[in-house]
Amino acid sequence: MKTSQTKGGKRTYIPHKAAAEFKPSFDWTKTEALSLFNDKLFTFEVDKIHFNDCITGMKDLPTECVDLIIADPPFGLNFGDMEPLYNRDSNYVAEGYQDIRIENYMEFTDKWISELPRLMKDDAGVWIFSGWTNLVDILNALRDNNLTLINHIIWKYQFGVFTRRKFVTSHYHVLFAVKNEKSYFFNKVEHYPEDVWNFKREYERGTRKNATKLPLEVVLRCIDFGSKPGDLVLDPFIGNGTAAVAAKGSFRHFLGFEVNQALSDIIEKSINKTSIGEFYIPYSEKPDELVRKARKKFKK
Ligand SMILES: C[S@@+](CC[C@H](N)C(=O)[O-])C[C@H]1O[C@@H](n2cnc3c(N)ncnc32)[C@H](O)[C@@H]1O
Repeated sequence: MKTSQTKGGKRTYIPHKAAAEFKPSFDWTKTEALSLFNDKLFTFEVDKIHFNDCITGMKDLPTECVDLIIADPPFGLNFGDMEPLYNRDSNYVAEGYQDIRIENYMEFTDKWISELPRLMKDDAGVWIFSGWTNLVDILNALRDNNLTLINHIIWKYQFGVFTRRKFVTSHYHVLFAVKNEKSYFFNKVEHYPEDVWNFKREYERGTRKNATKLPLEVVLRCIDFGSKPGDLVLDPFIGNGTAAVAAKGSFRHFLGFEVNQALSDIIEKSINKTSIGEFYIPYSEKPDELVRKARKKFKK
């Protein structure tokens, strides 16, 4: 690929040429992705949600069985008490959300993160979502359990909680950490993927759900960059089942844990209405904005 030209002995950069020539590191046709999904064999049950505590449950999983982990742990801010502040209609919020008391957050965080390295394959990665208040506990637990932080992403979104004596929080942290920084899997599916993401929270009016659902497109992004079709994605805190839906719709297998049994019908419905591979489009067929513009410019 020629992304510069020589002019009077000097190399001149050709703007956007590299973007026009961009190819994802790995790509699969829909047929290839489907057969990778179908051909994968497991010695334990997958595509399943376990309704129990993830710290206990993860201990029963075999060593090095997971390709990617997506974890959106409870916040540690006694969210249940704060529903009125977040302008939510409690008729549509599923009961039983399990939070962790702030004073126990450090211990809880270390307990669940310390289960991850044993479960992760050598090339596996983990995405962890966190607000800023308890971020320090997550960063410390990653370090203490020998997981290497590769990216610290700021997810910018409109939270909409009015404040009088401080700035309005309008970001979230998304950490990408790995077991082995030399061999971790990363599929660069965009030409210039930046560490600030801009996604709106989804507010589906009139739908009963857990109070803290992640947008599907954010979870799909973690799956696209961090795994291959046929891989096993584990979510220790599945909530509404977003990671299971994203995995199934991307030709990935899933496993989830959730302590709140009241969410079982919501989760089951969402998984059942998703068909295998329904979100899957080969990466070369869905170029990002920068690549699209550059291809137009160079008429590719
Ligand atoms: C922030 S929510 C996850 C939301 C999810 N990412 C989604 O998109 O719907 C955290 C979830 O973890 C659950 N939870 C809390 N402690 C848990 C534990 N020890 N094991 C499994 N689930 C737990 C809570 O009930 C809650 O549903």
